Amino acid sequence: MRLLLSLLLTSAAPFLRADEVLDRVIAHARAHPEGDAPASFRAADYRAELRELPIGVFDSGVGGLTVLEALKKHDRHDNRTGAEGADGVPDFQGERFIYLGDQANMPYGNYAAAGRTDFLRELILRDGLFLLGRRHARGDKPPVKAIVIACNTATAYGLEDLRAALKAWDLPVIMVGVVEAGARGLAESDKGAQGRVAVLATVGTCVSEAYPRAIGKVSSRQVWQMGSASLAAAIEGDPSVKASVRDILREDVGDFLREAAAVGPGAPFETLVLGCTHYPLVADAIDEAFAHWRDFRAPDGSRPYASLVAPRLRHVDPAAWTAEELWRALRAAERFASHADHEPDLFFLSVPSVAPALLGSDGGLTKDYKYGRLSGQVGRVDTINVPLTAEMLPPSTAKLVREKLPLTWRSLQARR
Ligand code: DGL
Repeated sequence: MRLLLSLLLTSAAPFLRADEVLDRVIAHARAHPEGDAPASFRAADYRAELRELPIGVFDSGVGGLTVLEALKKHDRHDNRTGAEGADGVPDFQGERFIYLGDQANMPYGNYAAAGRTDFLRELILRDGLFLLGRRHARGDKPPVKAIVIACNTATAYGLEDLRAALKAWDLPVIMVGVVEAGARGLAESDKGAQGRVAVLATVGTCVSEAYPRAIGKVSSRQVWQMGSASLAAAIEGDPSVKASVRDILREDVGDFLREAAAVGPGAPFETLVLGCTHYPLVADAIDEAFAHWRDFRAPDGSRPYASLVAPRLRHVDPAAWTAEELWRALRAAERFASHADHEPDLFFLSVPSVAPALLGSDGGLTKDYKYGRLSGQVGRVDTINVPLTAEMLPPSTAKLVREKLPLTWRSLQARR
């Protein structure tokens, strides 16, 4: 992680400034009010009643499905009165979801280290535009009444941009991200905990400092960050990542604890914020890696990390708190759909759409191409969003989704 941080600090940035990226995206969509160009929407769709429209959810890949699962199982209210308290009926029972995983452009978490947060910001704005628009690569899709950024990195780098763009376009679309919800989840769910907090996230999310900032507003607990450069891609089944999830975690947690030990004694790490939406899929392996180092015995018989890891680790998954934030926003806007039987959810995944020479041996965009693209060419079509079916997932990822996210898995099956 240190290497990546120093790369970030030394890399030159001969690209567009963040506000220029935002301005160009805003201007591009304004120039296409009929939604007839890539990265645009039909303005008239948002001057009509929005209540019956679906809810858009996006991530850089399949990790955001953990957030979709949380939305589907959220039951914290009486659906008739809205009063606090589960009623056995999911709170979003009447809602239809549209999911986008921008897998062709992931990992979002590594754009910062490549000095390309400008391009990442553009990708995130384009994800939002895809959900707002009416088209996908193979046909039509409905516009959306709300967008959930089911990606910590995208929330850290793009939530403010997307909110500013909605304001500029005068669209009353609800926008919710995962980071502030995660911080509130930590403050509300972990009262009385004394130990240190470790935020496990992508390197990009760590560099943005979004979590320490958000947690600092609601809690006085000490926050450390553990950035992982390849864990999300490994969970995604990316063939370019050769190490297993278990080995990546062993190494990253080991580096993290070594750094903490070098700083000196302190309260044990007791709460882990799963600050990347992919991580809840491997929560057991995360605990196993911390337990491995807690029990680790050095050749001299000492246990150098035993006092740094609490005997019982608590997890905070921002997903459920994000679901609650969305529920509150829909209620405040009186925007719940009025009937429970709706069409099946829709799922999309981005795939490369470039000349074969720009593809690596694994079929994905090469790193040079991925991180060498210029921002500002908003209508570019080098990736396209196609319908996602369960069969498109690598077997290991399909297994994780099937076992850990049953409601989402069922919904994906309905798309066969
Ligand atoms: N799932 C994303 C997050 O929550 C990150 C994965 C990636 O690096 O693309 O941050």
